[in-house]
Amino acid sequence: AAARALAPDGDAPAPLPGPTVRLRRNRKAEWTRRLVRENVLTANDLIWPIFVREGVNQHEAIASMPGVERLSIDAAVESAREAHALGVPAIALFPYTDPALRDAAGTEALNPDNLICRAVRAIKETTPEIGLITDVALDPYTSHGHDGLMRGEEILNDETVEVLVKQALNFARAGADMIAPSDMMDGRVGAIRRGLDAEGFTSVQVLAYAAKYASAFYGPFRDAVGTQKTLIGDKRTYQMDPANSDEALREVAQDIAEGADMVMVKPGLPYLDIIYRVKEKFGLPTFAYQVSGEYAMIEGAARNGWLDGDRAIMESLLAFKRAGADAVLTYFAPRVARLLRDE
Ligand code: PBG
Repeated sequence: AAARALAPDGDAPAPLPGPTVRLRRNRKAEWTRRLVRENVLTANDLIWPIFVREGVNQHEAIASMPGVERLSIDAAVESAREAHALGVPAIALFPYTDPALRDAAGTEALNPDNLICRAVRAIKETTPEIGLITDVALDPYTSHGHDGLMRGEEILNDETVEVLVKQALNFARAGADMIAPSDMMDGRVGAIRRGLDAEGFTSVQVLAYAAKYASAFYGPFRDAVGTQKTLIGDKRTYQMDPANSDEALREVAQDIAEGADMVMVKPGLPYLDIIYRVKEKFGLPTFAYQVSGEYAMIEGAARNGWLDGDRAIMESLLAFKRAGADAVLTYFAPRVARLLRDE
C-alpha cells in the first residue's frame, strides 16, 4: 500500500509517491541475490600458511591462535595433501626454529637441511601439484628476532639483502615454487630476482610483501615462530608506518620495477584501502594477508560465542575480494575450503 500523508480532519489524505527506484527488489529472494552478486570467493583464492616444527607426529597448540598448530614435517605433509584435496592452490611455510640454532646472523636460514628445506622436499615428493611458498626474512632464525642483520641497534639493509639472496637460493634449490620476501629491506626483490635467474631459477616466482606495515596484529605469529619474547625493540625502521598510504604505492612501484610477479598487502582487513589503491593503480596480481592477529580476533570471539565464526570468516574474506585482492593468505584456508565445498 502506498504511504499516505497525515491530512487534516475531513480532507482526503493525499497519496505520497513511492520510490520508483527500489534497490530491495534485487534482494527479494536468494535466486536474484545470486544473479546480481558482484564478487565470489572460491578455494582458488586461498593460500594456507602453515607453521612447521621438528619431531614426528607433532601437533603443537599455539595459545594465541586457537585451532592453529605447529606441525612436524610428516604432519605438514598430511596438511599439504589435505589442502590440495580441498582445492587450495598453495601453502606458505613458516618455521619454528630450535632456539639453540638461532644466532645473531640467522645462519640456520642458509642451511640446506633446515626445517623449511626438508619440509619443501617432503611435500614436493608427496603433493607436487600444490604451490609451495617460502618466506624470505631472517626473523625465525635470529637470536634477536629481527628480519635482518644488526649493528648495534641498526638493522643493516645491504648486508641483509646479500644474506636474503642466499636464503632465497637455498629454498629454490630445495624446490620452492615461489619466494616471498617479508623483510622490507630496500632492493631485495631485484637482488633476489637476479640471484634466482643467475642460477637458472627463472620460473621461480617472487611474491613481494610490498606494503607490509609495522603492526600489532603480528603478535600471535611471533608466538608461533618463537620471536615474541626475544624481539629486541620493534620493526618500525623497516616495516611501514600505519599512517601512510601513498608510501605503499611507492613500495609497490619499486617492487614491480625490480621484477615482483605479484605483490602483497599486510595486514589485511585494517588495510583494505591499500589493497584497493594498489589494485586500481597497478592492476597486477595483488594478495592480502589475513594475519595472525586477525585470525585471533575472529576465532577468539567465535569461541566465546560472541559472533558466528563461519559467517565472520566468510564475510571477511569476501571483503578482500571486493577490495580487489586476487588471493588471501589465511589460517582459515582449509576450513573455508570445506565450507565452500559443502555450500
Ligand atoms: C616475519 C613475518 C611476520 C609475519 C609473516 N612474516 C611477522 C613480523 O614481521 O614480525 C606475520 C604473519 C602473521 O602475523 O600472521 N618476516
